[in-house]
Amino acid sequence: MKLNLKEDVITLAIESSCDETSVSVLKNGRQVLSNIINSQIEQHKKFGGVVPEVASRKHIENINEVISQALKEANVTFDDITHVGVTYGPGLVGALLVGLSAGKAIAFAKEIPLNGVNHIEGHIYANFIDHKNLKPPFICLIVSGGHTHLVYMKDYGEYEMIGRTRDDAAGEAFDKVARALGLGYPGGPQIDKLAKEGNPDAINFPKAYLEEGSYDFSFSGLKSAVLNYINTQKMKGLEIPVADVAASFQKSVVEILTEKAVKCAVQKGVDRVVLAGGVAANSGLRTHLKLECDKNNIDLKYPSLTLCTDNAAMIGCVAYYDYIKGLSSNLDLNAIPNLKIGDRN
Ligand code: KG4
Ligand code: ZN
Repeated sequence: MKLNLKEDVITLAIESSCDETSVSVLKNGRQVLSNIINSQIEQHKKFGGVVPEVASRKHIENINEVISQALKEANVTFDDITHVGVTYGPGLVGALLVGLSAGKAIAFAKEIPLNGVNHIEGHIYANFIDHKNLKPPFICLIVSGGHTHLVYMKDYGEYEMIGRTRDDAAGEAFDKVARALGLGYPGGPQIDKLAKEGNPDAINFPKAYLEEGSYDFSFSGLKSAVLNYINTQKMKGLEIPVADVAASFQKSVVEILTEKAVKCAVQKGVDRVVLAGGVAANSGLRTHLKLECDKNNIDLKYPSLTLCTDNAAMIGCVAYYDYIKGLSSNLDLNAIPNLKIGDRN
């Protein structure tokens, strides 16, 4: 593909991997002209989590309207779009297919390139939108509802996986503990809020460090310990100190994430850590990680709150960097629910 990069590149990006229908228009990868996020949280709340069939149906209902809104807010038409970026994994297959089909239809009709994007990479690239001079290499801690990864990002699109969760993702642990405390869905923000009123040293929940030198994570033991604590209190007819449980649980998660991320940067001799994903919105994690990075002369970057959770602008940023490398996807691109970071189709 021969590119004329003297002209502005306008990206239309679509994200529908879970419970947000989002469409964004970007100029030259990092300037967001619009970023419409239609959240389905209200629809899923009553079930205590995302119901895949409901998510797919809602995406179908919303997608055309969200595309129109994004174009309108950016003050562009389909004719101004240079290429389309769309999430094709990981995520819920039915949900992914809605955005992917819309993206392919636009690329086909307007005869413009299609760039399939890995959702996890999108979370990392959210940082490039907020921090205009940021570039790789750096260590990235990606903590979302579905993933917990420690990655060495060498260059755009080049990753070395250093550690990952062996069971629950960090966000999943937040959501499950919140549910047990009766805090509703999504649990992360509720625990974050309550933790501010509680004592983080009230209950000593375990932290799994795993084998010496391992950068993997495990949150299922911690989650079980919290659930056991809640059940024991209930059985004894004792009150559950909800704010203390939230604060003590959050402290364990934050300390283990921070310790491994900082140790990894020090050992690799990398002086920058980048935080990404929904749990990157956690105020306890932002504060503690910043403190430990400062102590070790490591620069820390994290995205603004809107760009931490799922949105299409971050997807458009990945699509842009792929596009200027001359990469594009075929129109037979399929949704890949378990797509791994670094995989390209
Ligand atoms: O990245 P994301 O929007 O979706 C996935 O790709 O999974 O992350 C959603 C996750 C949920 O588990 C939610 O509870 C968590 O991010 N989350 C938080 C906070 N805000 C969102 N977890 C802890 N503290 C927060 N403030
Ligand atoms: Zn996400």
